[in-house]
Amino acid sequence: MKVPPWIEKAKTYTPGLSIEEIKKRYSLKQVYKLASNENPLPPHEGLLKTLTEKLKTINRYPSYIQPVIQAASQYYQVEASQVILGNGSSELIDKLMQVYSKSDSAVLISEKSFPLYELCAQTHNLTLYKTTMNEDLKVNIEEMLSTIKKNNNIRLVFISNPNNPTGSYITHSEVEKLLSITQNKNILLVLDEAYLEYVRTKDFPDGVSLLKKYPHLVILRTMSKVMGLAGLRAGVLLSHPSTVETMKKALCPFNVNILALEAMRYCFSNPSFKQYLSDSKELVWKSLDYFYNEFKKLNIKFYPSQGNFLLFSINQPDTFSSLLKKGLILRPMNEPGLENYLRMSIGLEEENKKALSLIQSIM
Ligand SMILES: Cc1ncc(COP(=O)(O)O)c(C=O)c1O
Repeated sequence: MKVPPWIEKAKTYTPGLSIEEIKKRYSLKQVYKLASNENPLPPHEGLLKTLTEKLKTINRYPSYIQPVIQAASQYYQVEASQVILGNGSSELIDKLMQVYSKSDSAVLISEKSFPLYELCAQTHNLTLYKTTMNEDLKVNIEEMLSTIKKNNNIRLVFISNPNNPTGSYITHSEVEKLLSITQNKNILLVLDEAYLEYVRTKDFPDGVSLLKKYPHLVILRTMSKVMGLAGLRAGVLLSHPSTVETMKKALCPFNVNILALEAMRYCFSNPSFKQYLSDSKELVWKSLDYFYNEFKKLNIKFYPSQGNFLLFSINQPDTFSSLLKKGLILRPMNEPGLENYLRMSIGLEEENKKALSLIQSIM
């Protein structure tokens, strides 16, 4: 069956390798995976109980989306009319591209960013503009502004803030610059805040407060990171009610499954979940500081991170496969300029210690 040429050319998203695969390939007993920026803590006990109960109803379609939207709106301090739930924020990224673009329009992203933006642009046959990054691996705002000025066909701008995989971020004033240049130009500015909860810096933008002033702002949040629900697939979009209404037309009925909905409701409204969130953040912050210290001692180049991951290089070829053979799965960077770099997700304390000793052993 013939498919359109842009689908034929499109690349497929490659998820991280599995532990089982690597155990088998190298006959290893123990393999550590720090490759997908997940929350390494086991799921919250109370949540598991609630989900077990909910399993009894999976013969029914999920019929209570509205109460979950209500809980999300209270959690994020917006109106319920500003919220859409997605099957992971990945679904929402894809639908934004589908809905707000035509074949003669374009998407603007930064290089060295979340690969899904480019893959979705390809499958929706959109022109892609990619700006370069500054030397410190920050999104180049000046280049973004001038690309927007020069090209009238841009309909969407996607920024991962904090940025995966570099861990860098753009500030409140930089976001305002982008918002004012895109205003009244029929462009949506999408701030993908998947890692927001891990941010420790003071000048990070308050995206939600900017929603009041800028109707063309879209904020994406995910339950896959600090909330520990990656396997359930749950994401949230916050924007102007008109954008929400448009997006609803593109979403399939019951796009979020019954367990994901129940988990969202629980996380947004159960006070006992707050402890899980603070434990998750504490683990990441303590572990990042641990790696910063140890990497400095070992002369390993790294970029300080506002996420739950760390980009580093030991400036040797084949580090990814050398570590794989020893039982450590990290994420290799295939982007030009990051050839010898690896992204390591923060794990449990014991996993982090093991990762450090394996990295040391190949140096
Ligand atoms: C920047 C960014 N946005 C979105 C996602 C996708 O999240 P979800 O699991 O909600 O689809 C990821 C996942 O790693 C990410 O890094």
